[in-house]
Amino acid sequence: MSNPSLLILAGDGIGPEVMDQVKRIIGWYGDKRGLNFDVSEDLVGGAAYDKHGVPLTDETMAKAQEVDAVLLGAVGGPAYDNLDFSVKPERGLLRLRKEMDLFANLRPAQCFDALADFSSLKKDIVAGLDIMIVRELTSGVYFGEPRGIHIEDNMRVGINTQRYTEAEIERGARAAFDMAMKRNKKLCSMEKANVMESGILWRDVVTEVHADYPEVELTHMYADNGAMQLVRAPKQFDVIYTDNLFGDILSDCAAMLTGSLGMLPSASLGSPMANGRPKAMYEPVHGSAPDITGQEKANPIACILSFAMALRYSFDQGEEATRLEAAIEKVLADGARTGDLMGPEGGTPLSTSQMGDVILAALDASL
Ligand code: IPM
Ligand code: MG
Repeated sequence: MSNPSLLILAGDGIGPEVMDQVKRIIGWYGDKRGLNFDVSEDLVGGAAYDKHGVPLTDETMAKAQEVDAVLLGAVGGPAYDNLDFSVKPERGLLRLRKEMDLFANLRPAQCFDALADFSSLKKDIVAGLDIMIVRELTSGVYFGEPRGIHIEDNMRVGINTQRYTEAEIERGARAAFDMAMKRNKKLCSMEKANVMESGILWRDVVTEVHADYPEVELTHMYADNGAMQLVRAPKQFDVIYTDNLFGDILSDCAAMLTGSLGMLPSASLGSPMANGRPKAMYEPVHGSAPDITGQEKANPIACILSFAMALRYSFDQGEEATRLEAAIEKVLADGARTGDLMGPEGGTPLSTSQMGDVILAALDASL
């Protein structure tokens, strides 16, 4: 049988730096665990624009459709801020999500014990935090039509449309309920049914799907209250299911509870392919961080944890994923810190590749 295939799209900013560490981890799994992958690499975002004039070529898109999983670094940067909207780096990422139909975006927010002091919230509010946000990723206001900027009565008008079909709400809801079944069987659905019809439909459809998951305790919350509850008492949540835009916002909020955006991975999953694996892309929640690009300061953990999610969700290697997560927990407990994880007491931060070194050493020690 041939090796599973991975397409690496490191992208812009710190994307390539953090992805270099992931490549070392992938190499380790080949050498030490006999888990070999056929890895190919290509461009996305500003890097693709610089070479091809578009943030994602049709060829790269076609490759992404064929591989078993895509690993993405980050896209965007100040050099591309003034580009025409249609060729902005973000469009490359959104095209991948849309054309691969990656409707279920899993964003875990887990607070590592060693980092509980780094949260902007009090330690006892975040210690032991472990929640999973399931964000609908292929519809809603990100893609709804009509959209655009046009002139009405000599005035510019900007339009975006929040649009959801019941089928779109339902398939994401099933992913969220399935996730809840594997965890603590609690699901909170968030929308704005008090002001948006799409929110009313959202609530109805999620309630209907609940009939198939009687063991799961389902609650509904307005998304603004959800934001407040996330910073007030985040441990009340297990799985949260929400739409594309609310999910974007609430996941940044949840991420920061854990101490650093540099720690948070994500998986974007679609329907099963012919080989039974879901269409999948894995990426850190953080962005391209232009302020620290090229300085070997970036924290590679979010990107490495994204690869752990790939092991778990695409390659059925849950134990190896746990091994990698445990190695990261170990190095953090031992005090390994990149710059984003430095407390007020200071100290010398590890570089990106030094963090890779200690994680590889912890993996070796796990054998
Ligand atoms: C995210 C990002 C993206 C989004 C951007 C880069 C298009 O913020 O993945 O959360 O808005 O979805
Ligand atoms: Mg975001």
